[in-house]
Amino acid sequence: MIRLPARLTGLIVAAGLALGMATPALSAGSPDAPRPANVPWSFSNPFWGMFDRAQLQRGFQVYKEVCSSCHGMELLRYRNLGERGGPEFPEAMVKALAAQYRVTELNDRGEPAERPAEAKDPFQSPFPNKLAAAAANNGKAPPDLSVIAKARTYFRGFPLFVVDLFTGENLMTGPNYLYAFLTGYQEPPAGVEVVEGAHYNRYFPGNWVGMPNILADGQIQYQDNSPQTVSQYARDVTAFMYWAAEPKMEERKRMGMFVILFLIFFATLLYFTKKKVWASVKGH
Ligand code: HEC
Repeated sequence: MIRLPARLTGLIVAAGLALGMATPALSAGSPDAPRPANVPWSFSNPFWGMFDRAQLQRGFQVYKEVCSSCHGMELLRYRNLGERGGPEFPEAMVKALAAQYRVTELNDRGEPAERPAEAKDPFQSPFPNKLAAAAANNGKAPPDLSVIAKARTYFRGFPLFVVDLFTGENLMTGPNYLYAFLTGYQEPPAGVEVVEGAHYNRYFPGNWVGMPNILADGQIQYQDNSPQTVSQYARDVTAFMYWAAEPKMEERKRMGMFVILFLIFFATLLYFTKKKVWASVKGH
């Protein structure tokens, strides 16, 4: 081991502490966008956190009825909605759902022809391309939401980023931000310069966002008796977006737990094997 002079060690510790104290100030982001609060997601635990099936189904309903008129999710296929680890809609329902959309393909004469979508087809986007999407939304194209839950994040600062290594909460910054964003619309504070064609959102970086506040209490009729509030809609659609970004999460965690249990079992086995093999050797 390298031995450092006591004074140098002290200096290193002091520098480390100073840096640590300074980080929250640096990481708090711009003063106009506060750090989103933690939401207790059913899937946040890195070992056993799983999706709430009913929540994913409601989340899809919110996406379908509200968000899909502006946002695509082109990395999803309709059949994914029926697969294990997702909303797990029955197969017949998935087929019927896909049939509500139309796909344009080249036919045997090389001409574009429409047909009803099937379970194997990707989610159909509301606009033919980004330019058309921007043109219809005051110049700001609504981003595709397939992986948005992983594409948005924020730094949680010292010492949380150390604690996060054990709780996995740092992986939840995407959904925490999305929930905060969807519920973060408000009247602009007095004295703030109004941006034409944009809407004030507390959590959007820069505050002025091209997306209007589209969620309202009671707007979507749920089949179960979950509250029909903006907060619930936002939570459900965010869970759905997280699943879309990581559809194999449940499988990954289940396999991870299995591997860890196996390694514990295997290490125990090796330990006793070693003891037995070395039993006759002196000094062991
Ligand atoms: C009327 C069209 C419209 C609807 C409906 C709509 N959005 Fe948007 N959304 C937009 C536009 C436009 C932007 C781009 C805004 C910008 O970049 O300023 C956007 C941006 C976003 C972003 C990115 C925010 C960021 O940090 O960059 C998310 C996430 C989002 N929308 C989620 C949703 C969800 C979830 C729904 C359904 C509950 C929804 N949107 C419904 C138009 C819409």
